[in-house]
Amino acid sequence: MYEGDIASVLLTEDEIQARVKELAVEIASRYPVGSPQGDLLLVGVLKGAIFFMTDLSRALPIPTQMEFMAVSSYGSSTSSSGVVRILKDLDKDIAGRNVLIVEDIIDSGLTLSWLMRNLSSRDPASLQVVTLLRKPDAVRTDVEVSMIGFDIPNEFVVGYGLDYAERYRDLPYIGTLDPKVYEGDGGM
Ligand code: PRP
Ligand code: MN
Ligand code: MG
Repeated sequence: MYEGDIASVLLTEDEIQARVKELAVEIASRYPVGSPQGDLLLVGVLKGAIFFMTDLSRALPIPTQMEFMAVSSYGSSTSSSGVVRILKDLDKDIAGRNVLIVEDIIDSGLTLSWLMRNLSSRDPASLQVVTLLRKPDAVRTDVEVSMIGFDIPNEFVVGYGLDYAERYRDLPYIGTLDPKVYEGDGGM
């Protein structure tokens, strides 16, 4: 699938799954079962975090509930436009809940920094973040990221939820995109 488009495999399916299990253990140790705040509430950021969210929630040995938010800062470009839009908001009130944002990648940190501000204004009991991937630029942002799966180089990556122009999300691994795919795309 997509064979000529993927320049190299950065993280194999096995590497991803092994790290997801480790993150699940780490998360479970931070949230005691039976807390007065109720079950941990996972807030998955659509669409990129979809596979991380489903794998992580099933790897977690504690009861969790799920909410989803859809925001977009990228559109079909490979670099951030700086504009974050809510495409779908949470269905439920998160006041008084322990909330864990589940993201696939932090690149510029813009999406997450905006999301943290937005969700903390809704008065959760606690608000933390787990991201599968983090790129080098993310360290420049003020966002406190509690748990990180992998620090990766500054290359455009796709697969396991990550897209380019909505394609490649369905790959079970994470790979780098061959520049020929986006060359001639207006420098986006
Ligand atoms: C991507 C990715 C993160 C965000 C990271 O989402 O899934 O949510 O960008 O970039 P940043 O740190 O520079 O803000 P995108 O906006 O492409 O939407 P998608 O998840 O639907 O692909
Ligand atoms: Mn996203
Ligand atoms: Mg995207």
